[in-house]
Amino acid sequence: MNEYNNNLKWRYATKKFDSERQISRDDLEEVLEAIRLSASSYGLQPYHVFVITDKDLRKQLKPSSWGQSQITDASHLIVFANQVDFNSKLIDSYLHNVSETRNIPAKGLEGYGDFMKSKLLQLPKDTKAQWTAKQVYLAVGNLLSAAASLKIDSCPLEGFEPEAYNKLLNLDEKGLNASVVVALGYRAQEDETQHYKKVRAPKEELFTHI
Ligand SMILES: Cc1cc2nc3c(=O)[nH]c(=O)nc-3n(C[C@H](O)[C@H](O)[C@H](O)COP(=O)(O)O)c2cc1C
Repeated sequence: MNEYNNNLKWRYATKKFDSERQISRDDLEEVLEAIRLSASSYGLQPYHVFVITDKDLRKQLKPSSWGQSQITDASHLIVFANQVDFNSKLIDSYLHNVSETRNIPAKGLEGYGDFMKSKLLQLPKDTKAQWTAKQVYLAVGNLLSAAASLKIDSCPLEGFEPEAYNKLLNLDEKGLNASVVVALGYRAQEDETQHYKKVRAPKEELFTHI
C-alpha cells in the first residue's frame, strides 16, 4: 500500500480534539502551502482563506456551528470563503501574476484573458458563486491529505451557518462567503471515532471501467 493511501486510511473526521496540543509553525506553513498549491479552474483561485486561532472569536463561532466542539478545541480553524461575485479584475490580476511570474509581456496574454472573460463574466451571479465554491473544495481536499501526511488531524465542517460566519468575519463587505471550515489539530485519546472502521462505497459500485 502506498504512503499516500495509508495516510488517507489514518485520517478520519476528528470529533474530539486535544485542546492542549498546537500545530507547530513549520507544519502549519506546510499545510497552508498545500492550499496555495491547489489546482483551480483557469488557476484563478477565487477564494480567501482565514486561519483562526483567536479564542474569543472561536467561542462566538461555536453556537453557529451546531455547537461542535472542534470549533473551539482544535489547534487551528481554517475558514474557506469563496468570492460570491467577480468581475474582470479577478482575471486581470491573475494575468498580471502570470506575466510577472513567467516573464511574459502582458500583451501576449490578452487573447487568453478575453477567452476567460467570455466564459466567466456573463455567468449569472448564482452560477458564479457555485463555481467559486467548487474551487474551494479542491483546496479543502488537498488540505486534508497534506495534514494527514504530517499526522495532523482534521475535520472538514459544513455544519455551520454561513450567514453568522459572514457577519462575524465581515465577509459580506469583502464579497466573500464562508463555504467550508476545516478544524486542524490533534485527536483526543478518548475520541472513540478514531477506532471506527472506514465506511466507503465498494469499488464495484463506485467505478465503471469502460
Ligand atoms: C464537506 C464536508 C463537510 C462535513 N461536515 C462535517 C461536520 O459539520 N461535522 C462533522 O463532524 N463532520 C463533518 N464531515 C465529515 C464527514 O462526515 C466524514 O468525512 C465522512 O463521514 C467520512 O468519514 P471519515 O472522514 O472519518 O473517513 C464533513 C465532511 C465533508 C467532506
